[in-house]
Amino acid sequence: MAGPPQTWTILAVLKWTTRYFQDKGVSEPRASAEVLLAHVLGLSRLELYLRHDQPLTPEELAAYKALIRRRVRGEPTAYLTGHKEFWSLDFLVSPATLIPRPETELLVESLLEVLRGRQFGAEVPPAPPGAGEQNRPGIPLLGLEVGVGSGAVIIALARELPRWRWLGVELSAPALEVARTNAARLGVAPRVQFIQGNLLGFLKPGPWFQAVAANLPYVPARDWATLPVEIREYEPREALWGGEDGLALVKPFCAEVHRFLAPGGWLAVEVGQGQAEAVRASLSDTRAYEGIATLRDYQGIPRVVRARRQPA
Ligand SMILES: C[S@@+](CC[C@H](N)C(=O)[O-])C[C@H]1O[C@@H](n2cnc3c(N)ncnc32)[C@H](O)[C@@H]1O
Repeated sequence: MAGPPQTWTILAVLKWTTRYFQDKGVSEPRASAEVLLAHVLGLSRLELYLRHDQPLTPEELAAYKALIRRRVRGEPTAYLTGHKEFWSLDFLVSPATLIPRPETELLVESLLEVLRGRQFGAEVPPAPPGAGEQNRPGIPLLGLEVGVGSGAVIIALARELPRWRWLGVELSAPALEVARTNAARLGVAPRVQFIQGNLLGFLKPGPWFQAVAANLPYVPARDWATLPVEIREYEPREALWGGEDGLALVKPFCAEVHRFLAPGGWLAVEVGQGQAEAVRASLSDTRAYEGIATLRDYQGIPRVVRARRQPA
Protein backbone atom coordinates (compact mmCIF):
# COMPACT_ATOMS: atom_id res chain seq x y z
CA MET A 1 0.00 0.00 0.00
CA ALA A 2 1.71 3.19 -1.18
CA GLY A 3 1.15 6.75 0.08
CA PRO A 4 2.14 8.84 3.07
CA PRO A 5 3.15 6.99 6.22
CA GLN A 6 0.15 6.58 8.47
CA THR A 7 -1.47 4.10 10.75
CA TRP A 8 -3.48 1.70 8.65
CA THR A 9 -6.70 1.45 10.60
CA ILE A 10 -9.58 -0.68 9.35
CA LEU A 11 -11.36 2.40 8.01
CA ALA A 12 -8.26 3.85 6.33
CA VAL A 13 -7.54 0.53 4.64
CA LEU A 14 -11.13 0.21 3.44
CA LYS A 15 -11.14 3.71 1.97
CA TRP A 16 -7.81 3.17 0.22
CA THR A 17 -8.82 -0.21 -1.19
CA THR A 18 -12.21 0.99 -2.40
CA ARG A 19 -10.53 3.77 -4.39
CA TYR A 20 -7.89 1.37 -5.71
CA PHE A 21 -10.53 -1.17 -6.81
CA GLN A 22 -12.51 1.64 -8.46
CA ASP A 23 -9.44 2.74 -10.43
CA LYS A 24 -8.77 -0.84 -11.50
CA GLY A 25 -12.39 -1.42 -12.59
CA VAL A 26 -13.11 -4.08 -9.97
CA SER A 27 -16.86 -4.69 -9.63
CA GLU A 28 -18.55 -3.75 -6.33
CA PRO A 29 -15.37 -2.07 -5.01
CA ARG A 30 -16.55 -1.23 -1.49
CA ALA A 31 -18.27 -4.55 -0.88
CA SER A 32 -15.24 -6.48 -2.20
CA ALA A 33 -12.88 -4.47 0.02
CA GLU A 34 -15.07 -5.15 3.06
CA VAL A 35 -15.59 -8.86 2.39
CA LEU A 36 -11.86 -9.47 1.88
CA LEU A 37 -10.82 -7.48 4.95
CA ALA A 38 -13.46 -9.15 7.12
CA HIS A 39 -12.12 -12.51 5.88
CA VAL A 40 -8.50 -11.65 6.76
CA LEU A 41 -9.44 -10.35 10.22
CA GLY A 42 -11.97 -13.09 10.99
CA LEU A 43 -14.69 -10.48 11.56
CA SER A 44 -18.14 -9.84 10.14
CA ARG A 45 -18.62 -6.81 7.85
CA LEU A 46 -20.56 -5.09 10.62
CA GLU A 47 -17.70 -5.65 13.06
CA LEU A 48 -15.35 -3.83 10.68
CA TYR A 49 -17.32 -0.66 11.36
CA LEU A 50 -17.63 -1.28 15.07
CA ARG A 51 -13.81 -1.49 15.17
CA HIS A 52 -13.12 1.08 12.45
CA ASP A 53 -10.14 2.68 14.29
CA GLN A 54 -8.37 -0.63 15.04
CA PRO A 55 -4.91 -0.68 13.39
CA LEU A 56 -3.91 -3.68 11.26
CA THR A 57 -0.80 -5.66 12.24
CA PRO A 58 1.92 -6.00 9.58
CA GLU A 59 0.87 -9.66 9.09
CA GLU A 60 -2.78 -8.71 8.57
CA LEU A 61 -1.78 -6.00 6.15
CA ALA A 62 0.43 -8.40 4.18
CA ALA A 63 -2.34 -11.01 3.99
CA TYR A 64 -4.85 -8.39 2.84
CA LYS A 65 -2.49 -6.99 0.21
CA ALA A 66 -2.02 -10.46 -1.26
CA LEU A 67 -5.79 -10.82 -1.66
CA ILE A 68 -6.09 -7.34 -3.18
CA ARG A 69 -3.52 -8.26 -5.82
CA ARG A 70 -5.41 -11.45 -6.73
CA ARG A 71 -8.74 -9.62 -6.83
CA VAL A 72 -7.33 -6.97 -9.19
CA ARG A 73 -6.13 -9.74 -11.52
CA GLY A 74 -9.76 -10.90 -11.75
CA GLU A 75 -10.11 -13.65 -9.18
CA PRO A 76 -13.66 -13.48 -7.77
CA THR A 77 -14.05 -12.37 -4.15
CA ALA A 78 -16.00 -15.53 -3.30
CA TYR A 79 -13.16 -17.80 -4.46
CA LEU A 80 -10.67 -15.75 -2.44
CA THR A 81 -12.67 -16.17 0.75
CA GLY A 82 -14.17 -19.60 -0.09
CA HIS A 83 -17.62 -18.37 0.95
CA LYS A 84 -20.72 -16.89 -0.66
CA GLU A 85 -24.02 -15.90 0.92
CA PHE A 86 -27.17 -17.21 -0.76
CA TRP A 87 -30.66 -17.23 0.72
CA SER A 88 -29.08 -15.65 3.85
CA LEU A 89 -27.03 -18.83 4.33
CA ASP A 90 -23.25 -19.16 4.26
CA PHE A 91 -22.17 -21.51 1.43
CA LEU A 92 -18.68 -22.83 0.83
CA VAL A 93 -17.61 -22.37 -2.79
CA SER A 94 -14.54 -23.46 -4.73
CA PRO A 95 -13.33 -22.94 -8.30
CA ALA A 96 -15.16 -26.21 -9.08
CA THR A 97 -18.53 -24.62 -8.31
CA LEU A 98 -20.39 -21.73 -9.85
CA ILE A 99 -20.69 -18.83 -7.40
CA PRO A 100 -24.41 -18.73 -6.56
CA ARG A 101 -26.05 -15.60 -7.97
CA PRO A 102 -28.64 -13.44 -6.18
CA GLU A 103 -31.09 -13.77 -9.10
CA THR A 104 -31.11 -17.56 -8.58
CA GLU A 105 -33.00 -16.96 -5.34
CA LEU A 106 -36.02 -16.55 -7.64
CA LEU A 107 -35.69 -20.22 -8.59
CA VAL A 108 -36.05 -21.12 -4.90
CA GLU A 109 -38.91 -18.64 -4.38
CA SER A 110 -40.77 -19.84 -7.46
CA LEU A 111 -41.00 -23.35 -6.05
CA LEU A 112 -41.66 -22.33 -2.45
CA GLU A 113 -44.61 -20.27 -3.63
CA VAL A 114 -46.38 -23.35 -4.98
CA LEU A 115 -45.00 -26.10 -2.72
CA ARG A 116 -45.52 -24.61 0.74
CA GLY A 117 -48.38 -26.32 2.45
CA ARG A 118 -49.07 -28.63 -0.48
CA GLN A 119 -50.29 -32.09 0.38
CA PHE A 120 -49.64 -34.52 -2.42
CA GLY A 121 -51.00 -37.36 -0.23
CA ALA A 122 -52.33 -40.39 -2.04
CA GLU A 123 -51.11 -39.42 -5.49
CA VAL A 124 -47.48 -39.87 -4.40
CA PRO A 125 -45.76 -42.89 -6.00
CA PRO A 126 -43.08 -45.01 -4.33
CA ALA A 127 -39.54 -43.61 -4.22
CA PRO A 128 -37.34 -44.44 -7.23
CA PRO A 129 -34.99 -47.40 -7.11
CA GLY A 130 -31.61 -46.41 -5.67
CA ALA A 131 -32.95 -43.42 -3.76
CA GLY A 132 -32.25 -45.39 -0.55
CA GLU A 133 -33.12 -43.24 2.43
CA GLN A 134 -35.89 -41.58 0.49
CA ASN A 135 -37.87 -44.80 0.38
CA ARG A 136 -39.02 -44.36 3.95
CA PRO A 137 -42.71 -44.53 4.68
CA GLY A 138 -44.34 -41.39 6.01
CA ILE A 139 -42.10 -38.98 4.09
CA PRO A 140 -43.63 -39.01 0.64
CA LEU A 141 -42.50 -35.63 -0.70
CA LEU A 142 -39.52 -35.92 -3.01
CA GLY A 143 -37.77 -33.18 -4.99
CA LEU A 144 -34.96 -33.18 -7.54
CA GLU A 145 -32.39 -30.62 -8.57
CA VAL A 146 -30.30 -31.16 -11.68
CA GLY A 147 -26.94 -29.34 -11.73
CA VAL A 148 -26.51 -28.60 -8.02
CA GLY A 149 -23.07 -26.88 -8.10
CA SER A 150 -22.39 -25.68 -4.54
CA GLY A 151 -25.83 -26.98 -3.49
CA ALA A 152 -27.23 -23.48 -2.93
CA VAL A 153 -30.67 -24.11 -4.48
CA ILE A 154 -31.35 -27.62 -3.19
CA ILE A 155 -30.11 -26.77 0.32
CA ALA A 156 -32.20 -23.58 0.50
CA LEU A 157 -35.25 -25.62 -0.58
CA ALA A 158 -34.49 -28.37 1.93
CA ARG A 159 -34.17 -25.82 4.74
CA GLU A 160 -37.48 -24.19 3.83
CA LEU A 161 -39.44 -27.41 3.32
CA PRO A 162 -38.63 -29.66 6.29
CA ARG A 163 -41.02 -32.46 5.25
CA TRP A 164 -39.36 -32.90 1.86
CA ARG A 165 -36.49 -35.11 0.81
CA TRP A 166 -34.27 -34.14 -2.10
CA LEU A 167 -32.07 -35.73 -4.69
CA GLY A 168 -29.33 -33.61 -6.28
CA VAL A 169 -27.63 -34.55 -9.55
CA GLU A 170 -24.36 -33.06 -10.74
CA LEU A 171 -21.85 -33.91 -13.46
CA SER A 172 -18.80 -32.58 -11.63
CA ALA A 173 -17.37 -34.76 -8.84
CA PRO A 174 -15.49 -31.90 -7.10
CA ALA A 175 -18.63 -29.73 -7.13
CA LEU A 176 -20.58 -32.61 -5.57
CA GLU A 177 -18.06 -32.76 -2.72
CA VAL A 178 -18.64 -29.06 -2.00
CA ALA A 179 -22.42 -29.55 -2.15
CA ARG A 180 -22.24 -32.50 0.27
CA THR A 181 -20.13 -30.47 2.70
CA ASN A 182 -22.57 -27.56 2.50
CA ALA A 183 -25.55 -29.85 3.15
CA ALA A 184 -23.80 -31.17 6.28
CA ARG A 185 -22.77 -27.71 7.52
CA LEU A 186 -26.27 -26.36 6.99
CA GLY A 187 -27.97 -29.25 8.73
CA VAL A 188 -29.91 -30.88 5.86
CA ALA A 189 -27.61 -33.81 4.97
CA PRO A 190 -30.06 -36.46 6.26
CA ARG A 191 -32.71 -35.24 3.82
CA VAL A 192 -30.57 -34.46 0.77
CA GLN A 193 -28.84 -37.13 -1.27
CA PHE A 194 -26.39 -36.31 -4.05
CA ILE A 195 -25.61 -38.39 -7.14
CA GLN A 196 -23.08 -37.89 -9.91
CA GLY A 197 -24.89 -38.03 -13.25
CA ASN A 198 -25.59 -36.50 -16.63
CA LEU A 199 -28.94 -34.65 -16.64
CA LEU A 200 -31.69 -37.27 -16.11
CA GLY A 201 -29.72 -40.23 -17.45
CA PHE A 202 -29.12 -41.64 -13.96
CA LEU A 203 -32.72 -42.76 -13.50
CA LYS A 204 -35.45 -44.66 -15.35
CA PRO A 205 -38.44 -42.48 -16.20
CA GLY A 206 -41.26 -42.61 -13.66
CA PRO A 207 -43.48 -40.19 -11.72
CA TRP A 208 -40.96 -40.00 -8.89
CA PHE A 209 -40.71 -36.28 -8.11
CA GLN A 210 -43.23 -33.75 -6.87
CA ALA A 211 -40.84 -30.91 -7.69
CA VAL A 212 -37.87 -30.42 -9.98
CA ALA A 213 -35.50 -27.42 -10.08
CA ALA A 214 -32.76 -26.77 -12.61
CA ASN A 215 -30.28 -23.99 -13.23
CA LEU A 216 -28.30 -25.54 -16.05
CA PRO A 217 -25.53 -23.80 -18.03
CA TYR A 218 -27.12 -21.30 -20.44
CA VAL A 219 -24.48 -18.86 -21.74
CA PRO A 220 -24.73 -18.78 -25.56
CA ALA A 221 -21.53 -19.00 -27.62
CA ARG A 222 -21.96 -15.43 -28.92
CA ASP A 223 -21.85 -14.02 -25.34
CA TRP A 224 -18.76 -15.95 -24.26
CA ALA A 225 -16.12 -13.43 -25.38
CA THR A 226 -17.93 -10.56 -23.65
CA LEU A 227 -18.25 -12.25 -20.26
CA PRO A 228 -16.25 -10.46 -17.55
CA VAL A 229 -12.79 -11.98 -16.96
CA GLU A 230 -13.76 -12.94 -13.43
CA ILE A 231 -16.45 -15.22 -14.85
CA ARG A 232 -14.88 -16.43 -18.10
CA GLU A 233 -11.46 -17.26 -16.70
CA TYR A 234 -12.30 -18.32 -13.16
CA GLU A 235 -15.72 -19.97 -12.98
CA PRO A 236 -16.07 -23.54 -14.32
CA ARG A 237 -16.83 -23.55 -18.02
CA GLU A 238 -19.07 -26.63 -17.63
CA ALA A 239 -21.28 -24.59 -15.29
CA LEU A 240 -21.77 -21.82 -17.87
CA TRP A 241 -21.34 -22.96 -21.48
CA GLY A 242 -24.69 -23.56 -23.17
CA GLY A 243 -23.56 -24.16 -26.76
CA GLU A 244 -24.59 -22.18 -29.83
CA ASP A 245 -27.93 -20.81 -28.54
CA GLY A 246 -27.26 -21.35 -24.83
CA LEU A 247 -29.89 -24.08 -24.67
CA ALA A 248 -27.81 -27.13 -25.61
CA LEU A 249 -28.57 -28.72 -22.23
CA VAL A 250 -31.75 -26.89 -21.23
CA LYS A 251 -33.76 -27.98 -24.28
CA PRO A 252 -33.10 -31.74 -24.04
CA PHE A 253 -33.74 -31.51 -20.30
CA CYS A 254 -37.09 -29.76 -20.89
CA ALA A 255 -38.07 -32.35 -23.50
CA GLU A 256 -37.59 -35.20 -20.99
CA VAL A 257 -38.22 -33.96 -17.47
CA HIS A 258 -42.03 -34.47 -17.55
CA ARG A 259 -41.37 -38.23 -17.63
CA PHE A 260 -39.94 -37.91 -14.09
CA LEU A 261 -42.58 -35.62 -12.57
CA ALA A 262 -45.52 -36.86 -10.53
CA PRO A 263 -48.97 -35.76 -11.70
CA GLY A 264 -49.54 -32.24 -10.40
CA GLY A 265 -45.80 -31.85 -9.67
CA TRP A 266 -43.93 -28.62 -10.33
CA LEU A 267 -40.95 -27.77 -12.52
CA ALA A 268 -38.88 -24.57 -12.31
CA VAL A 269 -36.05 -23.82 -14.73
CA GLU A 270 -33.73 -20.80 -14.61
CA VAL A 271 -33.09 -19.20 -17.99
CA GLY A 272 -30.83 -16.51 -19.44
CA GLN A 273 -31.96 -13.22 -20.89
CA GLY A 274 -34.06 -13.77 -24.03
CA GLN A 275 -34.41 -17.56 -23.53
CA ALA A 276 -37.77 -17.82 -21.74
CA GLU A 277 -39.88 -18.11 -24.91
CA ALA A 278 -37.78 -20.94 -26.36
CA VAL A 279 -37.90 -22.82 -23.04
CA ARG A 280 -41.66 -22.34 -22.76
CA ALA A 281 -42.02 -23.71 -26.28
CA SER A 282 -39.92 -26.80 -25.43
CA LEU A 283 -42.15 -27.52 -22.43
CA SER A 284 -45.32 -26.79 -24.36
CA ASP A 285 -44.31 -29.22 -27.15
CA THR A 286 -44.46 -32.09 -24.65
CA ARG A 287 -48.19 -31.38 -23.98
CA ALA A 288 -47.48 -32.59 -20.43
CA TYR A 289 -48.09 -29.33 -18.54
CA GLU A 290 -51.31 -27.60 -17.61
CA GLY A 291 -49.83 -24.13 -17.09
CA ILE A 292 -46.52 -22.53 -17.98
CA ALA A 293 -45.51 -19.22 -16.36
CA THR A 294 -42.53 -16.89 -16.75
CA LEU A 295 -41.26 -15.13 -13.61
CA ARG A 296 -39.11 -12.00 -13.68
CA ASP A 297 -36.15 -11.31 -11.43
CA TYR A 298 -35.60 -8.09 -9.42
CA GLN A 299 -34.15 -6.46 -12.55
CA GLY A 300 -37.30 -7.28 -14.51
CA ILE A 301 -35.57 -9.96 -16.62
CA PRO A 302 -37.59 -13.12 -17.38
CA ARG A 303 -35.51 -15.52 -15.26
CA VAL A 304 -37.55 -18.59 -14.33
CA VAL A 305 -39.99 -20.70 -16.32
CA ARG A 306 -42.33 -22.62 -14.05
CA ALA A 307 -44.79 -25.29 -15.12
CA ARG A 308 -47.18 -27.75 -13.48
CA ARG A 309 -47.36 -31.34 -14.69
CA GLN A 310 -50.91 -32.20 -15.61
CA PRO A 311 -52.74 -33.83 -12.71
CA ALA A 312 -53.69 -37.48 -13.27
C1 LIG B 1 -25.33 -22.75 -13.74
S1 LIG B 1 -24.58 -23.93 -12.67
C2 LIG B 1 -25.77 -23.93 -11.33
C3 LIG B 1 -25.21 -24.34 -10.00
C4 LIG B 1 -26.17 -24.16 -8.82
N1 LIG B 1 -27.39 -24.92 -9.00
C5 LIG B 1 -26.49 -22.68 -8.64
O1 LIG B 1 -27.59 -22.27 -9.04
O2 LIG B 1 -25.66 -21.93 -8.12
C6 LIG B 1 -24.90 -25.41 -13.55
C7 LIG B 1 -24.43 -26.69 -12.88
O3 LIG B 1 -24.81 -27.80 -13.72
C8 LIG B 1 -23.75 -28.71 -13.79
N2 LIG B 1 -23.89 -29.47 -15.05
C9 LIG B 1 -23.45 -29.12 -16.28
N3 LIG B 1 -23.79 -30.05 -17.17
C10 LIG B 1 -24.46 -31.02 -16.50
C11 LIG B 1 -25.06 -32.25 -16.88
N4 LIG B 1 -25.05 -32.67 -18.15
N5 LIG B 1 -25.66 -33.00 -15.92
C12 LIG B 1 -25.68 -32.59 -14.62
N6 LIG B 1 -25.12 -31.43 -14.21
C13 LIG B 1 -24.52 -30.65 -15.14
C14 LIG B 1 -22.51 -27.86 -13.73
O4 LIG B 1 -21.37 -28.60 -13.33
C15 LIG B 1 -22.93 -26.79 -12.73
O5 LIG B 1 -22.61 -27.17 -11.41
